[in-house]
Amino acid sequence: MFLKRVQVPDFRILKDVDISFEPEFCPRIFPLGSLNGGGKSTLFQLLFVLLGCSSEPDKYVYIRNLLTGFKVDSDQLERSLAKIEILDNGISVNLEFVCINRKKRLSKLGGKGLDEVLRSKGLRSITDYLGSGNNSNNKDCLICLKFRSNEQLNQIRKYLPALATKIYLAAPFTQVFQFLAKTETRKLFKEHKQKLEYYLKLEAVKQRLTNFFTYDFLSVDYILKFLKSARDQDFKQVIDTGNYGNNYQLALGELNSLLDNKQINVDPDLSGVNFKIKDEEGERELFPEDFSHGELKRLSIYVWLKHLQMEDSIVLMDEIESTFHPDWQYQITADLAEWGASNQYILATHSYDLCQALTPAHIKELEPRPILEIAATDQPSANQSTEETQKEN
Ligand SMILES: Nc1ncnc2c1ncn2[C@@H]1O[C@H](COP(=O)(O)OP(=O)(O)OP(=O)(O)O)[C@@H](O)[C@H]1O
Ligand SMILES: [Mg+2]
Repeated sequence: MFLKRVQVPDFRILKDVDISFEPEFCPRIFPLGSLNGGGKSTLFQLLFVLLGCSSEPDKYVYIRNLLTGFKVDSDQLERSLAKIEILDNGISVNLEFVCINRKKRLSKLGGKGLDEVLRSKGLRSITDYLGSGNNSNNKDCLICLKFRSNEQLNQIRKYLPALATKIYLAAPFTQVFQFLAKTETRKLFKEHKQKLEYYLKLEAVKQRLTNFFTYDFLSVDYILKFLKSARDQDFKQVIDTGNYGNNYQLALGELNSLLDNKQINVDPDLSGVNFKIKDEEGERELFPEDFSHGELKRLSIYVWLKHLQMEDSIVLMDEIESTFHPDWQYQITADLAEWGASNQYILATHSYDLCQALTPAHIKELEPRPILEIAATDQPSANQSTEETQKEN
């Protein structure tokens, strides 16, 4: 799956967003820049929730939470939310999400059910939400998918569940997640006890939204799951072929290769990990708390990608460079290309070093455009020859 184009005319801070991603680019890694508050996180959360939650009723709550306050006036026929084009094995699938005011549509029922009326207008409802933003139970708006023919509707209905398994979001756990209930996100800014409740809530949400990841330092759970899954593959292999596989050894080797002069040790019952460091002072034991923030983050991204066996997926990663030295900010694109080559990565970033690892055409920006504006001021003057410019590049 590949996100080819996203258009968002007017949602929260996002205005006239129209970004295309080129499937032929190598690597398929696209930094997304903007000033602080430019809407990168908002765009990621909107994409994640629309693509990941539209096909599962028990996840509609995240769409409802995100859309609270996205008002459609009663004199407005519909309000466009997002147009998203996905490329799947060379086939384009176009998804158009619009919101309608229920009151306006309900007044035209003429004895028919709302779904029937909507269908005749080329709309399939997903869920209702509180567009007015008032604290009431009257969910006055509906989010719908727009379709041009029954054939297209059937294609979308079949397609959405598959797409939902292929969209991932990673972000710092201190990010404000607009798809949580307002009452919950507000706790993040309250006294300690409420903050703890927020973190517990976030953990519970992660259990339900399995493709949602917060850069946990360190994901011991993921490491253990990754190794257990390798061990199980070896066990399956011995049953199938009579010989143990070497997946466990390979997985352990891959983890160790990330750790430089440290070596990972796993408890015999796979219930925990510790590490050994070997340097001029000899060999000593280390625990996860002895690692640096950046080391833990890099390791956690690796095991997240590996454990979930992400392939051919759309991976949205927010604030990817935080805690990384500029060398690792530069390095992370090569890491991602190596750790999960078939995925598309969109990286919300402020890092010039990260962008340097890719071509200028890979870089996408939301208005106002900090990076391209800087680049524009560095442009050669009109009398500088093209040859000189090429040499510099
Ligand atoms: N309903 C709304 N309408 C307009 N703007 C809004 C609305 N709600 C929030 N905002 C603004 O949107 C911005 C949030 O954007 P977001 O967090 O997506 O930015 P960002 O690009 O991720 O920034 P950063 O780089 O700092 O993480 C904030 O400036 C916030 O004040
Ligand atoms: Mg952000």
